[in-house]
Amino acid sequence: MFQELAYAKVFQEYLEARNLPHSPSNLYDPIRYIMSLSGKRIRPLLVLMGAELFREDAVTSALPASVAIEYFHNFSLIHDDIMDKAPLRRGRPTVHQQWDDSVAILSGDALLVKAYEELAKCPPDKIPALLQIFNKTALEVCEGQQYDMDFEKRWEVSETEYIDMIRLKTSVLLGGALQMGAIIADADREAQSLIYEFGVNLGIAFQLQDDILDVYGDPETFGKQVGGDILANKKTILYIKLHELILGDDRRKLEHLLADDGEIKPQKVEKMKALYAKYDIQALAIYQKEKFTTIAYDKLKAIRLEEERKQSLFSLADALMNRVQ
Ligand code: IPE
Ligand code: IPE
Ligand code: MG
Ligand code: MG
Ligand code: MG
Repeated sequence: MFQELAYAKVFQEYLEARNLPHSPSNLYDPIRYIMSLSGKRIRPLLVLMGAELFREDAVTSALPASVAIEYFHNFSLIHDDIMDKAPLRRGRPTVHQQWDDSVAILSGDALLVKAYEELAKCPPDKIPALLQIFNKTALEVCEGQQYDMDFEKRWEVSETEYIDMIRLKTSVLLGGALQMGAIIADADREAQSLIYEFGVNLGIAFQLQDDILDVYGDPETFGKQVGGDILANKKTILYIKLHELILGDDRRKLEHLLADDGEIKPQKVEKMKALYAKYDIQALAIYQKEKFTTIAYDKLKAIRLEEERKQSLFSLADALMNRVQ
């Protein structure tokens, strides 16, 4: 879906030229495995497109940063799948399923080190600024992941808390990717801040779509276990909206579905989906997704550049919001 975009090929070629040792195989094979499953490669494309937006000839010098961001993303996915007990990723068994938890922890750690190795290859005068945004973003992702786990145990989470959690676990990485590209292309502070805000708001809409697909996605194209968020008591946009509206008997049913009494609730996914349908929750989630997409577009519009230079970012954002994978 996104592979035909400009720069997907140049990224792939640069990535393929990265060498990994073969031994110990239980350290490096999982890295090769997850990277070869590839996924949409949105974040490295955002680094390259962020660079191109401000200076076309900056794209090549942004390649190491784009790989660093994709390594970091894949590291976070390997660990996220352990934390979420997820069996499937990109249509294949997750690393901890295919190997085991210890292998997944360590190969994830090694991938994070590989990210820093690539960062060290960025243009030397830009490294301090790049490290500052990368480190800030990476820590925020950890914070968001911890909130996500903490919220599993809670019955009530406000919409504000939820949006802040997804801003941290997902959105800042999209914003950070774009800003790193902009830094490499010498964008000024105001432009850097606008492109970052574009990415963060796009990232919020992106995670809202991810929450929606987790329930309503087609298992063939989604590549992950549909219903996984419901099984794990995740506080998604669908849950937040349902909790705001639900009353009486339905509220008791929801409490029962969430109760951790050591028993796996039969037909939990179907029962939650019936409640979502009764309160028309999917439409409310889509409305929120569109709201954040509009905010994102306004940030991109506010950057002082000719509109035609922004076209590819607008198209990518459109494609992301209607994605099925
Ligand atoms: C998955 O990200 C994690 C989320 C933040 C929802 P992607 O949907 O970009 O995953 P891949 O890289 O394309 O597989
Ligand atoms: C992903 O959140 C955030 C990170 C991996 C940092 P999810 O847990 O919703 O992502 P998926 O659905 O497993 O890809
Ligand atoms: Mg997950
Ligand atoms: Mg998760
Ligand atoms: Mg998800």
